[in-house]
Amino acid sequence: QASSELAGLKVLISAGPTREPLDPVRYITNRSSGKMGYALAEAAINMGADVTLVSGPVQLAAPAQARLIQVETAAQMYAAVLAEADSHAIYIGAAAVADYSPVPAPEKLKKHAGASTLVLHKTQDILAAVAALTPPPFTVGFAAETENLTEYALGKLQDKKLAMIAANWVGKAEGGFDRDQNALQVFWPTGQKALAMTDKSLLAQQLLSLIAEHFYNTMP
Ligand code: PMT
Repeated sequence: QASSELAGLKVLISAGPTREPLDPVRYITNRSSGKMGYALAEAAINMGADVTLVSGPVQLAAPAQARLIQVETAAQMYAAVLAEADSHAIYIGAAAVADYSPVPAPEKLKKHAGASTLVLHKTQDILAAVAALTPPPFTVGFAAETENLTEYALGKLQDKKLAMIAANWVGKAEGGFDRDQNALQVFWPTGQKALAMTDKSLLAQQLLSLIAEHFYNTMP
């Protein structure tokens, strides 16, 4: 649905998974398809925004009018998002960024007798870094949870000093990773709103309308 709610605004969106190499042939990743982030990019364009989409590896075509920046690892996504964030009014972190990453081995790891141990290092938090910019863009995070949705989402909203967070259940029968539909519980420092299970395209429009409303309310 075309509207002008985001007319003239530059919106930066991250989407998809990251891929953390173990060696030249193996990597660690997650179940994100990119559908939620790409739906947000499409909907933001339809609402008049100028969209930059930073995407991990996905099997989706980006909207023709989006400026697409393709990345693979969490470190690359961090660098790409931080290079763009201060020139955008709104940042939405819909990507499923790896929290931990191995130091990749230069050659293919060999098989040995017995178990193997993997050492993982914490990645840098992209959302927290964007929200700490001065001035920050209107920063919207996602929270993917299998338990304690409200408590964990509110923790992330506060700890990362976000303007808003969209929480979704993952690992359930409906919604979350890779599904065409999703539901969101959206929190901001003074309120919350439930967006019921529906196609990610419609849900993206609903979330962006809420973001536009709050963005204009918090403008100095
Ligand atoms: O891509 P789909 O298949 O359509 O699935 C959609 C989705 C489930 C991936 C999406 O709706 C979603 O929830 N995205 C966030 C997934 C996630 O990594 O959530 P989290 O609760 O682990 O992270 C919280 C927030 O911190 C997220 O906005 C994430 O982008 C951000 N983050 C996390 C780690 C990191 N190093 N930097 C970050 O910015």
